[in-house]
Amino acid sequence: MIHIDKNNTYSILSSVQVAAKVVKNLQPEDYKLLRVFAFGLEHHETLTRHQLAGYSKLHEDIVDYRLKGLQEMNLINKSNRGFTILNAGLDTFALKILAEKNIISGIGKPIGVGKESDVYEAITDRLKERAIKFFRIGRISFREATKKRSFALKEHDKIHHWLLVNISAAKKELDMLQRLKNTGISLPLPLYRAMHCIAMNRINGVRLASVKDLEQPSTVLQNILFSIGIAYKNQIIHSDLSEYNVLVGQTSGDTWIIDWPQAVATDHPNARYLIKRDVFNIVRFFNRRFAVGKNLDDALRDVLNSSSSCATTTKNSAAPKLST
Ligand SMILES: Nc1ncnc2c1ncn2[C@@H]1O[C@H](COP(=O)(O)OP(=O)(O)O)[C@@H](O)[C@H]1O
Ligand SMILES: [Mg+2]
Repeated sequence: MIHIDKNNTYSILSSVQVAAKVVKNLQPEDYKLLRVFAFGLEHHETLTRHQLAGYSKLHEDIVDYRLKGLQEMNLINKSNRGFTILNAGLDTFALKILAEKNIISGIGKPIGVGKESDVYEAITDRLKERAIKFFRIGRISFREATKKRSFALKEHDKIHHWLLVNISAAKKELDMLQRLKNTGISLPLPLYRAMHCIAMNRINGVRLASVKDLEQPSTVLQNILFSIGIAYKNQIIHSDLSEYNVLVGQTSGDTWIIDWPQAVATDHPNARYLIKRDVFNIVRFFNRRFAVGKNLDDALRDVLNSSSSCATTTKNSAAPKLST
């Protein structure tokens, strides 16, 4: 676990990679510029030195000097149109925000590297354990783009596009977790979003996919179906449910449903298909791995019925506005 100094410099380890190597050398002026890049993303694909000086209120000479340094650290990129923030630049800025807001004081090893995210362990100054999820949708495109020393115009556009997609996915997942947190479903407690990262409490569990033995598999399955039912009653369908998005407590057998950015509302045109797919994925897995012999259609009916008779109420009872 590496300490993060929220005032100025901090040093972090491991594969929030480029960011981790360089953050300890960054100065307040660097963060001012990263802030301008990060908050300007929505309106600017690139920024000129003149715009950067204007928005940051730094002298153009200082801007030139700092931009050179940020480029050398691979946090930003220069093209003939101006400067663009890269993934590592956004990681660095997000970590700075999380440290400043006292959400974390140190970040450690990766605890989950998925296709669309990197999840790291982190700690607060009161030694509470956190999980930080960095969204990496479009990662392959980033890799291809950042391999090249100079980018074609197209690559810039792609990076800019994916950074916005990741910020938006982080917003969406935080929103889903917040809507569901008081409903009785077991899921990570959402804490904060910084750009394309969300901070959650860290769950002490393993992926259901890697569990070979369960003491009471039928009960565990019922609990998961119950959670799906509660979400459905709250007009939310996870839409990517499988043994990879359920964590299981190693000794308790408790379950948590994770990874909610692709959730849809129950009035989505494909709602029926998506809820069925979620339920069938989980039930098929339990039948295959633990031979529980649960009938797929019965399970779906249980979910839909439990959701209509479920007594759980939520503080967020307004119908969720989800993308359809
Ligand atoms: N709150 C958490 N506590 C502990 N581990 C987590 C937490 N959230 C995610 N993980 C780990 O990170 C992995 C990837 O997270 P997930 O949200 O499923 O993202 P992806 O979209 O990449 O699949 C999970 O399989 C799990 O191992
Ligand atoms: Mg996942």
